[in-house]
Amino acid sequence: MSHFDKRAEGWDSGDIRVNGAKTIANAINARITLKNEMDIMDFGVGTGLLGFEIASQVKKVYGVDTSTQMLAKLQEKNSSELSIEPINQDIIKEPLSQTFDGLVSSMTLHHVEDLKDFFNVIYKNINEDGFIAIADLETEDGTFHSDNAGVFHFGFQKEELCKIVESCGFKDVKFENINTINKPHRDFGVFLLTATK
Ligand SMILES: C[S@@+](CC[C@H](N)C(=O)[O-])C[C@H]1O[C@@H](n2cnc3c(N)ncnc32)[C@H](O)[C@@H]1O
Repeated sequence: MSHFDKRAEGWDSGDIRVNGAKTIANAINARITLKNEMDIMDFGVGTGLLGFEIASQVKKVYGVDTSTQMLAKLQEKNSSELSIEPINQDIIKEPLSQTFDGLVSSMTLHHVEDLKDFFNVIYKNINEDGFIAIADLETEDGTFHSDNAGVFHFGFQKEELCKIVESCGFKDVKFENINTINKPHRDFGVFLLTATK
């Protein structure tokens, strides 16, 4: 059982992640016009905290995740009124042939080892004029997680990340602070990176 499979049951308890996802959804809405004909990928969808926030505004949200248990929790929340289509696949190793009008992602990029591989794959999955909107941690000191298993980046530095995203073909790359997560020992900044194809 993977790290996230073990954590799936309790993932939605408490306000920090739930409110964090709402803040990210608001920040996306302030920068991108979501439309009801759009197919959107939520990369690292988990239990759908971000995806469900935007699902009513778009045609369909496809939730990509490598954790079977996180996706099982997501499916418990699916209803005839509001649903996310789960995709249980490592799309970096086994890319999807489907394309999307946009990609959203919350707190997953630091779990992706090779960023160039990721953005090169994603570029192919995004339609012309489509967007990416990725929220994650600003550079941190390695103390955000109590266990750093599966954490490949201690947050991200603006210039370095923007350079990688641009080198993979994306345009209009912007990186803005949108939230602060307060933990007892220190605060952690959360950014939203947006770009278009
Ligand atoms: C920190 S959780 C965030 C979940 C959700 N986005 C949220 O904000 O609550 C990271 C998620 O990314 C998934 N994940 C990690 N590496 C992945 C990969 N290479 N491809 C797809 N999902 C991945 C994990 O299984 C987990 O559900």
